[in-house]
Amino acid sequence: MRTIRAIAELRQALAGPRREGRSIGLVPTMGAFHEGHLSLIRRARTECDVVVVSLFVNPAQFNEEADLAAYPRDERRDAELAERERVDYLFVPSAEEMYPAGFATTVSVGRVTEMFEGAHRGRSHFDGVTTVVTKLLNIASPHVAYFGGKDAQQAVVVQRLARDLDIPVRIEVCPTVREPDGLALSSRNVLLSPDERNRARALHRALRATASAVDAGERDAVAAKAAGVTELEAAGVRPDYFELVRAPTLEPVNRIDGDILALVAARVGAVRLIDNEPITLNTNHARSPSKSNHRASTTPRRS
Ligand code: PAF
Repeated sequence: MRTIRAIAELRQALAGPRREGRSIGLVPTMGAFHEGHLSLIRRARTECDVVVVSLFVNPAQFNEEADLAAYPRDERRDAELAERERVDYLFVPSAEEMYPAGFATTVSVGRVTEMFEGAHRGRSHFDGVTTVVTKLLNIASPHVAYFGGKDAQQAVVVQRLARDLDIPVRIEVCPTVREPDGLALSSRNVLLSPDERNRARALHRALRATASAVDAGERDAVAAKAAGVTELEAAGVRPDYFELVRAPTLEPVNRIDGDILALVAARVGAVRLIDNEPITLNTNHARSPSKSNHRASTTPRRS
């Protein structure tokens, strides 16, 4: 594996394989690797001839200075893990390399950025993500780029970006990797105290409670969400949002009449966590919306 810090050097390194028609996979990351990142890298490794992993804690997408300062960083450990996964190039640019003096361009995606994370973290969050992702796609020109499904809205935004700007790349969204107790893996989990780590499990429990309610036949979104919110409240976790949406558009649903995505974000202590669960409609169990939330929330969970 070669660690590269300069844009020109990465372009040069990839020119040969590209000429030879070899496929290039890019895994954009902000480092602090966990099994979620490694699952993206492994997928890239099985599907592409050349694997590039970018490691850049992008200051432009942080809306809070404290969040940026606290973001875990350990390049040496990440490099060891990447080497073990047979990554070809680890691209670790500095902030000056990515945003040199005079940098004045923002790539901004409309509509799908306006709600949820966009509303809570501010417009600049997704502008920061889409600007850096556009740069990374331009720098590496990969055939495929891999993103984690935990950041469901980000995945929708990046797909929109690639389509709207005709960027010739396939965007692959890979499944969320979880701890055995259901907590979605996140680089931020290391910032949780033992008590917060315990309470953080409620996010996945809440998503599962809502999925179980839908599975049991609940079709009213308010009632299905109430099953999840009950789980959060029991753990003393107040969500920034807990919403049921149509997957491709992120448009909230009132009546559940097709496959949806349950989205949650909450602060546990000082740490903000997000998670989601795709919910597939089981049409055999459709029942009247007048049935109680209680019954829905006590339905046995699938996981
Ligand atoms: O998901 C992330 O880690 C980041 O948002 C990304 C896509 C690497 C852009 O900085």
